[in-house]
Amino acid sequence: MDSKALGFAWNVLLAVIAILGSLLPVGAYNLDLDSQASIVGVARSMAEDMMAFYSGDQPGGTPGILPDPYYWWEGGALMGALVDYWYYTGDARWNDAATQGLLHQVGPNKDYMPPNQTMTEGNDDQGFWGMAVMSAAEHKFPDPPRGEPQWLALAQAVFNTQAARWDERTCGGGLRWQIFAWNNGFGYKNSISQGCFFNLAARLARYTGNQSYAAWASRAWDWMASSGLLDPATYHIYDGVDVDNCSRRVPYQWSYNAGAFLLGAAAMYNHTADAADRDVWRERVDGLLNGTAVFFGGDAGDVMTEAACEPVGLCNVDQQSFKAYLARWMAAATKWAPWTDARVMPLLRASAAAAAAACTGGPGGRLCGLRWTGRAFDGWTGVGQQMAAMEVVLACLVRNKSAPAADGQGGTSVGDPAAGGGEDAARRAARELGPVSAAGKAGAWALTAAAALTLLLGLAFIVVDEGEPWPSWTRRLAAVCPATSASRRDPGVSKPDMARQPPSDRARGWSPRER
Ligand SMILES: *[C@@H]1O[C@H](CO)[C@@H](O)[C@H](O)[C@H]1NC(C)=O
Ligand SMILES: *[C@@H]1O[C@H](CO)[C@@H](O)[C@H](O)[C@H]1NC(C)=O
Ligand SMILES: *[C@@H]1O[C@H](CO)[C@@H](O)[C@H](O)[C@H]1NC(C)=O
Ligand SMILES: *[C@@H]1O[C@H](CO)[C@@H](O)[C@H](O)[C@H]1NC(C)=O
Ligand SMILES: *[C@@H]1O[C@H](CO)[C@@H](O)[C@H](O)[C@H]1NC(C)=O
Ligand SMILES: *[C@@H]1O[C@H](CO)[C@@H](O)[C@H](O)[C@H]1NC(C)=O
Repeated sequence: MDSKALGFAWNVLLAVIAILGSLLPVGAYNLDLDSQASIVGVARSMAEDMMAFYSGDQPGGTPGILPDPYYWWEGGALMGALVDYWYYTGDARWNDAATQGLLHQVGPNKDYMPPNQTMTEGNDDQGFWGMAVMSAAEHKFPDPPRGEPQWLALAQAVFNTQAARWDERTCGGGLRWQIFAWNNGFGYKNSISQGCFFNLAARLARYTGNQSYAAWASRAWDWMASSGLLDPATYHIYDGVDVDNCSRRVPYQWSYNAGAFLLGAAAMYNHTADAADRDVWRERVDGLLNGTAVFFGGDAGDVMTEAACEPVGLCNVDQQSFKAYLARWMAAATKWAPWTDARVMPLLRASAAAAAAACTGGPGGRLCGLRWTGRAFDGWTGVGQQMAAMEVVLACLVRNKSAPAADGQGGTSVGDPAAGGGEDAARRAARELGPVSAAGKAGAWALTAAAALTLLLGLAFIVVDEGEPWPSWTRRLAAVCPATSASRRDPGVSKPDMARQPPSDRARGWSPRER
């Protein structure tokens, strides 16, 4: 053959390989759930792909910040995932990135209220950073150098600023979603803000032994029950209530709410010395576990799914990451409430296997999709998808990991019970920033209307496209959202940064039935 023919044959061969490559999932993970080496290997690749979305550790990047369209809070969630990654694998590859990100975002008061974010910061946003540093203290993640803020003190600072915001003027208590009055979400009390606060308070109680934190955790739990956000029979947790009418409840259920309360209840169970009180928390842990059934689907009902948005393909960027936290917190709960292992591990293992099977996307053939129930890549990629798959795979190692540390039980992180205290950060920042202009508000409402229209059109398209009749998907949703008559306005609409994204993406409680 002359060189021309050779070249042609070579090209044909390459084309054949490319076609075969696109048919076969070359990068498909071969996950062995009983092999530490296999789990660590898979998690390592998933972490690598997750961190490909992050440039905060690159020259010119801002540590702790993910690029658009990811919000600030998800950077905190990502740092928490890196702390978990190290705890489970012992691989320190991302430790510097995590330490740098966690320390860069602390803000001048060392309480995760950095001036770049405070204009639009919610209690839940701050809470995710607080829970990340709490994990760092519990897992004995390498302590920052002397002179830098310490993990435990940072978690206490977040707790202290939030306890100061507890608001009894409306709905008998609770935290508002947004910290500042100029954001519409200020008029909304959502479960994830209470969940982050409860989770942090319970874990601080267990870590420090300080009963004040336990009292706050109980107060937050009691308010969830009295407000109707946590159903005492089913332990289902609904999205939130409107402060203008506290019986106007937004009924959507999200997996991260279940997870945040589950781990907090497990911490309270473990912390509580009195036998009768401990039984109360044990029952709550069991009840919350029962409630998580909403978030497991697939043929055997054991694969994690974001039930309110996955089946209809309408999870927004935030919601695409929620399973990461349910997986993270279910696994962690087995340490403090050891009897839950028998129920939790089969669910996490089945979900990990399904998640790994859904990671065959992208050029390398191993990017993760959103839906695990189909055990196949569904084309939705992102930070949340990588984080969720990685966390659920790592969770399969939890039996072999040491229990979280505490003061007097191996803990090394230095605390400061007064951190973040003094003048309430919210009031201080409010004075500094001043109220938002009326023009800004009007613009935000116009954006909302536009986005609502887009969503409606998108919804119609999906229904037509899937050829699925309306009654069928409304019935499926009704299983998750029982109070089908509820309507809501978008709590995030007046946020100044809404111009960058459809406002509805910011509304964690948004669901396709909103019209
Ligand atoms: C857990 O540890 C045991 C004993 O060292 C080992 O045999 C087993 O493979 C480990 N399992 C996992 C999932 O890491
Ligand atoms: C705030 O934004 C500026 C400009 O983008 C950036 O240089 C700085 O690092 C940011 N600070 C934080 C804490 O993210
Ligand atoms: C316990 O926590 C409370 C609330 O943060 C704090 O005011 C108090 O100083 C703490 N007590 C001790 C002994 O650390
Ligand atoms: C409050 O909301 C509930 C439930 O949506 C409704 O039945 C009731 O009429 C509302 N009350 C007021 C004063 O608007
Ligand atoms: C959880 O579900 C089991 C089985 O249905 C039931 O027996 C138990 O009472 C439930 N626990 C709580 C606290 O609701
Ligand atoms: C509390 O947690 C520790 C550490 O994981 C565990 O060893 C202990 O059994 C738990 N306590 C109870 C009462 O279950």
